[in-house]
Amino acid sequence: MLRALENYSPETSCWNGWFEATRFCPVRGITLETARVARCETVPPNAYTVAVDEVAHRVWDLTNPQHRLRPTMTLDEERLNQHVQTALNDVGATAHAPLVVIGDRLGLYETLADAGPLTSTGLAEETDTAERYVREWLRSQAAGGYVSYDPETDRYSLTPEQTAVLVDENSPAFMAGNFQVALSAAKIEPQLAEAFRTGEGVGWHEHDVDLFDATERSWRPQYAANLADNWIPALDGVDSTLRAGGRVADVGCGHGASTILLAEAYPESTVVGVDYHEASIEAARERATNAGVSDRVRFEVATAKSYDGARYDFVTTFDAFHDMGDPVGAAAHIRDTLTDDGTWMLVEFAASDAVEDNLNPMGRAAYSISTLACTPCALDQEGERVLGAQAGEAAIREVVTDGGFTRFRRAAETPLNHVFEAKP
Ligand SMILES: C[S@@+](CC[C@H](N)C(=O)[O-])C[C@H]1O[C@@H](n2cnc3c(N)ncnc32)[C@H](O)[C@@H]1O
Repeated sequence: MLRALENYSPETSCWNGWFEATRFCPVRGITLETARVARCETVPPNAYTVAVDEVAHRVWDLTNPQHRLRPTMTLDEERLNQHVQTALNDVGATAHAPLVVIGDRLGLYETLADAGPLTSTGLAEETDTAERYVREWLRSQAAGGYVSYDPETDRYSLTPEQTAVLVDENSPAFMAGNFQVALSAAKIEPQLAEAFRTGEGVGWHEHDVDLFDATERSWRPQYAANLADNWIPALDGVDSTLRAGGRVADVGCGHGASTILLAEAYPESTVVGVDYHEASIEAARERATNAGVSDRVRFEVATAKSYDGARYDFVTTFDAFHDMGDPVGAAAHIRDTLTDDGTWMLVEFAASDAVEDNLNPMGRAAYSISTLACTPCALDQEGERVLGAQAGEAAIREVVTDGGFTRFRRAAETPLNHVFEAKP
C-alpha cells in the first residue's frame, strides 16, 4: 500500500512528492512497515513511476481507477491476523470439501470405519485406489480433524463421532451429504454471477444433477430421526388422523424422502408427493417402488399452486416453502386443498428473525446455500416475497397468514429445523 505524504494536485492531476509505503506479509505473520519512503517521479501525462525501497518498482496510471492509490487505512494488527486466519481456515475448508465428497464416493471413510486403523497402503488396497493419492488425502483429513492419526504406527482411523458425521447415513449428525450439497450447488457459480447482474433467477432444475441426490441425503437423516417420533406428535391431532388413515400431500417433495417416510410411518394413510421438477419426481417414484410403498404413495409433477386440489387432511412442505417464487399464492392453494380442520406442517431451516442473530455457523451455511440455490430458485419463478432459507418465524408467519391461514405456531424444533403448524 502506498500513501502520499504530500497532497494530490488537482491542477496537474498529479501526485507530487514523497510516498510512504506500507508492507505486510499475510501468510508468514504480519509485518507492518510504514517507514519506507520513496520518490514519486513524473513520467508522461498521468503516469508516475514510484520507486519504493524493497517494495516494488511500479507504474501507477492514475487515469485507471484500478491503479488509484487507496486512502490511508490504519490496520489493527491483531484484527488483521484474525481475518487472515479466518480466510486461511476457509481456503482450507473450500479445498477440503471436494476431498470429503471423494472420500464419501470412494468409500474411504466407510472402509476406515470398518477396517481401520489402516496405513495409506492398507486403505488403498482395501478400496482399490492409488496409494499416493490416498496418502495425501489422509494427511489432509487428519490436518482437518476428520480422520485420526497415530504417528507411532502411521495408521489412520475414525472415532465413533467421526463415523457418525461422515459414514452413518442414518445418523442425524451425518454431514457428508451437506458437502455434496455445497459443492454441487456451487457448480452454478458462473451462471449465478451473471444472475447477480441481471436479477434473473436460476431454477432448481438448472442445477447439477448431483444436487438433487445430495439434498435427499443431507435432509433425510433429520426427517427419519424426527418426523414420526417428534414432529407429527407435536401437531394438534395429526398423529391420530394419520393412524386412522388420512390423505396427505407432500409439496416440494424432491426425491420423496419425506413422502416415503410418511407412508412408512402411517401405513393406513395415502400420500401424494408433488414437485415441479420432473426428474426429481421420476427418482421419487423409483424410490417408492424400492421401499415397497407404491400401493399408498403416488407422485404428481405440479407446482405448489397447481397440484390436484383434492381435500387433504395434512399437507407438508419440507425445506421447500422458502424456495417458492410466490409463497403467498402457494399458501393460498395449500389452504384451498386442505379440509377445514386440516393441518399444514412447514419444516424450515432453523433461523431467528433478526439478521444479526443468524450471524453464526448455521446462519452462514444456510445463507450461503440460500444464495446458491434457494433464492435463485424463487427468483426463477414469480419472484414475489422471496423468503430465502433464513427468513425466520415472523416472516414465514406473515406469508402464511396472508395466504389465508388463521392459526400459526412453532410446534417443534431441532438445532437445524423449525417446524411450524398452520391451520385454516
Ligand atoms: C431444497 S429441495 C427439498 C426437497 C425435499 N423436500 C427434501 O427435503 O429433500 C426444494 C424442492 O422444492 C421444489 N420446488 C421449488 N419450487 C416449487 C414450487 N413452486 N412448486 C413445487 N415444488 C417446488 C424443488 O423442485 C425442490 O425439489
